[in-house]
Amino acid sequence: MIEKTLSIIKPDAVRLGYSGQIIALIEAAGFKILGLSMVHMAQQQAQRFYDVHREKPFFNSLTEFMSSGPSIVMVLEKENAIEDLRKLMGATDPADACEGTLRKAFASSLEENAVHGSDSRASAHNEIPFFFNALELEGQN
Ligand code: CMP
Repeated sequence: MIEKTLSIIKPDAVRLGYSGQIIALIEAAGFKILGLSMVHMAQQQAQRFYDVHREKPFFNSLTEFMSSGPSIVMVLEKENAIEDLRKLMGATDPADACEGTLRKAFASSLEENAVHGSDSRASAHNEIPFFFNALELEGQN
């Protein structure tokens, strides 16, 4: 089934100049970019985005990191997009990520792990409208 997912190139990867390489690999893997925007989140915005992690011990540090500089947010579309993007990203901790994945190539730590991708249909459904308006995306099909 054709799906949409939300991806974020996180502030570490943007700062290190990896955005272009990451976008090229995402496109080469067959994803269509329906929307793309550079955003510098306020910490409060990052806290709302990662609300499901509010009780985790890393919540404060994660949201500080995510608001430490600009990110690139994208809506991606392809067959099986949610699972396929997670495969392309690799394990959350780059130390566990396989060769050929984005996190193996570009991430530096469990927290500063270069990219985000929605982890389920329900997450994609919540995360896409967090950054994009449905009407903006419609024209891209
Ligand atoms: P992401 O896929 O964006 O989803 C939640 C993020 O929290 C994750 O990537 C990491 O950046 C971060 N994260 C997950 N687990 C930990 C952890 N144990 N310590 C610090 N950060 C974490």
